[in-house]
Amino acid sequence: MSEAAARKQWTLPVRNRHLLLTRGRRRAMPPVKTLRAIGLKRGMRFLDVGSGPGYFAIPACGVVGKYGRVLACDVSPVMIAELRAGAEKRGYSNLTAKRNQGSRIPFPDACADFVLIAFVLHGLADIQPLLAESRRAMKKGSAITLVDWHKKPMDMGPPLEARFEPEELVAQLRDAGFRNPRWWDFDGNTYFAAAEGP
Ligand SMILES: C[S@@+](CC[C@H](N)C(=O)[O-])C[C@H]1O[C@@H](n2cnc3c(N)ncnc32)[C@H](O)[C@@H]1O
Repeated sequence: MSEAAARKQWTLPVRNRHLLLTRGRRRAMPPVKTLRAIGLKRGMRFLDVGSGPGYFAIPACGVVGKYGRVLACDVSPVMIAELRAGAEKRGYSNLTAKRNQGSRIPFPDACADFVLIAFVLHGLADIQPLLAESRRAMKKGSAITLVDWHKKPMDMGPPLEARFEPEELVAQLRDAGFRNPRWWDFDGNTYFAAAEGP
């Protein structure tokens, strides 16, 4: 049986989007600290794929600063509207947020220094098209980080059947042509997988 057929997909219902912006989440995975730790720097062009209402994208506007830019996309127009409103409320003018259809990323080739796909991939039947699109949007020498839940029982996150083992994401990154794919545990519940782009 293929990976896509064996694995269930699950996406957080849009009505539960408030769960993405809780204080508990900020304590467990502080966004600015996390973004800096994975390599986001002032002046970079940061692409957040499946941004939701902006848990990472909004703080990223501050991290990259006025000479950097945050590019964000999400399939949900509700998430995009909330993200834009959140950035505006905080006075950030260095965000471009667009809705995407399926796996097509609505930004040009080689536009990003850094790509993040956080807590999105368990919602897709086949993650290769989104990884290929991410790679297309990456500059030479850029990096990608994936963040997701460990595949073990816990009282939060998506159903177990939708999750990936970290080694599976590493293999998928390799299959998509990324260099030096690797993973590390974050807090026992979540992990990061990273690689270099074109
Ligand atoms: C659990 S939320 C995570 C949001 C954000 N990355 C975060 O960590 O807070 C998953 C998001 O991925 C979006 N999504 C699902 N499939 C997508 C796709 N093919 N392209 C872009 N966004 C997608 C959903 O609409 C949702 O906003």
